[in-house]
Amino acid sequence: MSYFEWDDGYSVCVERLDNDHKHLFALLNKAHDACTAPMQSENYPLLVNELIDYLTKHFAVEETYMRTIGYPDLEAHKLEHRRFHDQVSAYRQKTYENKEDYTRELIELTETIYNWLRHHILNVDQQYTNFVVLSHFK
Ligand SMILES: [Fe+2]
Repeated sequence: MSYFEWDDGYSVCVERLDNDHKHLFALLNKAHDACTAPMQSENYPLLVNELIDYLTKHFAVEETYMRTIGYPDLEAHKLEHRRFHDQVSAYRQKTYENKEDYTRELIELTETIYNWLRHHILNVDQQYTNFVVLSHFK
Protein backbone atom coordinates (compact mmCIF):
# COMPACT_ATOMS: atom_id res chain seq x y z
CA MET A 1 0.00 0.00 0.00
CA SER A 2 1.21 3.45 -0.87
CA TYR A 3 1.83 6.05 1.78
CA PHE A 4 -0.13 8.73 -0.11
CA GLU A 5 -3.33 7.40 -1.68
CA TRP A 6 -5.39 9.11 -4.42
CA ASP A 7 -9.07 8.11 -4.49
CA ASP A 8 -12.17 9.15 -6.46
CA GLY A 9 -13.05 11.75 -3.84
CA TYR A 10 -10.15 13.82 -5.26
CA SER A 11 -11.55 13.78 -8.80
CA VAL A 12 -12.03 17.14 -10.56
CA CYS A 13 -13.86 15.33 -13.40
CA VAL A 14 -11.21 16.30 -15.97
CA GLU A 15 -9.15 13.27 -16.98
CA ARG A 16 -5.94 15.16 -17.78
CA LEU A 17 -6.00 17.01 -14.44
CA ASP A 18 -6.93 13.90 -12.45
CA ASN A 19 -3.99 12.13 -14.11
CA ASP A 20 -1.70 15.02 -13.15
CA HIS A 21 -2.88 14.77 -9.53
CA LYS A 22 -2.41 10.97 -9.56
CA HIS A 23 1.10 11.42 -10.93
CA LEU A 24 1.86 13.91 -8.16
CA PHE A 25 0.72 11.35 -5.57
CA ALA A 26 2.98 8.77 -7.29
CA LEU A 27 5.96 11.16 -7.14
CA LEU A 28 5.25 11.82 -3.46
CA ASN A 29 5.30 8.07 -2.82
CA LYS A 30 8.50 7.65 -4.82
CA ALA A 31 10.23 10.36 -2.76
CA HIS A 32 8.83 9.01 0.49
CA ASP A 33 9.93 5.44 -0.36
CA ALA A 34 13.41 6.69 -1.13
CA CYS A 35 13.59 7.98 2.45
CA THR A 36 13.06 4.50 3.92
CA ALA A 37 16.24 3.19 2.27
CA PRO A 38 19.77 4.56 2.65
CA MET A 39 19.95 7.39 0.14
CA GLN A 40 22.85 8.64 -1.91
CA SER A 41 23.09 12.36 -1.24
CA GLU A 42 22.99 13.15 -4.97
CA ASN A 43 19.50 11.60 -5.20
CA TYR A 44 18.02 14.18 -2.86
CA PRO A 45 18.12 17.18 -5.22
CA LEU A 46 16.89 14.98 -8.07
CA LEU A 47 13.78 13.98 -6.11
CA VAL A 48 13.15 17.52 -4.90
CA ASN A 49 13.49 18.93 -8.41
CA GLU A 50 11.30 16.22 -9.93
CA LEU A 51 8.50 17.02 -7.47
CA ILE A 52 8.66 20.80 -7.78
CA ASP A 53 9.13 20.75 -11.57
CA TYR A 54 6.07 18.55 -12.01
CA LEU A 55 4.03 20.70 -9.63
CA THR A 56 5.01 23.80 -11.64
CA LYS A 57 4.06 22.12 -14.93
CA HIS A 58 0.74 20.97 -13.49
CA PHE A 59 -0.15 24.46 -12.24
CA ALA A 60 0.38 25.85 -15.77
CA VAL A 61 -1.80 23.12 -17.33
CA GLU A 62 -4.56 23.68 -14.77
CA GLU A 63 -4.46 27.47 -15.23
CA THR A 64 -4.78 27.03 -19.00
CA TYR A 65 -7.80 24.79 -18.45
CA MET A 66 -9.46 27.35 -16.13
CA ARG A 67 -8.85 30.10 -18.70
CA THR A 68 -10.42 27.89 -21.39
CA ILE A 69 -13.63 27.40 -19.41
CA GLY A 70 -13.86 31.11 -18.46
CA TYR A 71 -13.47 30.38 -14.77
CA PRO A 72 -14.19 33.64 -12.88
CA ASP A 73 -11.89 32.91 -9.89
CA LEU A 74 -8.83 32.21 -12.04
CA GLU A 75 -6.69 35.03 -10.59
CA ALA A 76 -7.28 34.03 -6.94
CA HIS A 77 -6.56 30.41 -7.82
CA LYS A 78 -3.34 31.39 -9.63
CA LEU A 79 -2.27 33.34 -6.55
CA GLU A 80 -2.66 30.21 -4.38
CA HIS A 81 -0.49 28.32 -6.85
CA ARG A 82 2.17 31.05 -6.85
CA ARG A 83 2.31 31.26 -3.05
CA PHE A 84 2.73 27.53 -2.65
CA HIS A 85 5.27 27.36 -5.47
CA ASP A 86 7.34 30.03 -3.69
CA GLN A 87 7.04 28.14 -0.38
CA VAL A 88 8.26 24.79 -1.75
CA SER A 89 10.89 26.34 -4.02
CA ALA A 90 12.84 27.11 -0.84
CA TYR A 91 13.57 23.38 -0.65
CA ARG A 92 15.68 23.58 -3.79
CA GLN A 93 17.96 25.93 -1.88
CA LYS A 94 17.89 23.71 1.24
CA THR A 95 19.39 20.98 -0.91
CA TYR A 96 22.66 22.82 -0.83
CA GLU A 97 22.47 24.15 2.70
CA ASN A 98 21.55 21.00 4.63
CA LYS A 99 23.70 18.22 3.30
CA GLU A 100 23.62 16.48 6.71
CA ASP A 101 19.96 15.53 6.82
CA TYR A 102 18.48 14.90 3.39
CA THR A 103 15.97 12.34 4.61
CA ARG A 104 14.35 14.63 7.18
CA GLU A 105 14.12 17.45 4.63
CA LEU A 106 12.60 15.20 1.98
CA ILE A 107 9.99 13.72 4.33
CA GLU A 108 9.10 17.25 5.43
CA LEU A 109 8.72 18.33 1.77
CA THR A 110 6.57 15.33 0.79
CA GLU A 111 4.26 15.86 3.76
CA THR A 112 4.07 19.61 3.09
CA ILE A 113 3.07 18.99 -0.53
CA TYR A 114 0.66 16.19 0.38
CA ASN A 115 -1.14 18.24 3.04
CA TRP A 116 -1.40 21.28 0.79
CA LEU A 117 -2.41 19.28 -2.30
CA ARG A 118 -5.14 17.34 -0.50
CA HIS A 119 -6.65 20.51 0.91
CA HIS A 120 -6.19 22.41 -2.37
CA ILE A 121 -7.85 19.75 -4.55
CA LEU A 122 -10.84 19.35 -2.22
CA ASN A 123 -11.42 23.02 -1.44
CA VAL A 124 -10.02 25.02 -4.35
CA ASP A 125 -9.67 22.82 -7.47
CA GLN A 126 -13.11 21.26 -7.09
CA GLN A 127 -14.59 24.77 -7.23
CA TYR A 128 -13.93 24.87 -11.00
CA THR A 129 -15.65 21.47 -11.25
CA ASN A 130 -18.67 22.97 -9.48
CA PHE A 131 -18.54 25.96 -11.84
CA VAL A 132 -18.67 23.66 -14.90
CA VAL A 133 -21.53 21.58 -13.44
CA LEU A 134 -23.57 24.68 -12.51
CA SER A 135 -22.97 26.23 -15.97
CA HIS A 136 -24.85 23.33 -17.51
CA PHE A 137 -27.98 24.25 -15.55
CA LYS A 138 -28.08 27.90 -16.60
FE1 LIG B 1 -5.11 24.22 -8.41
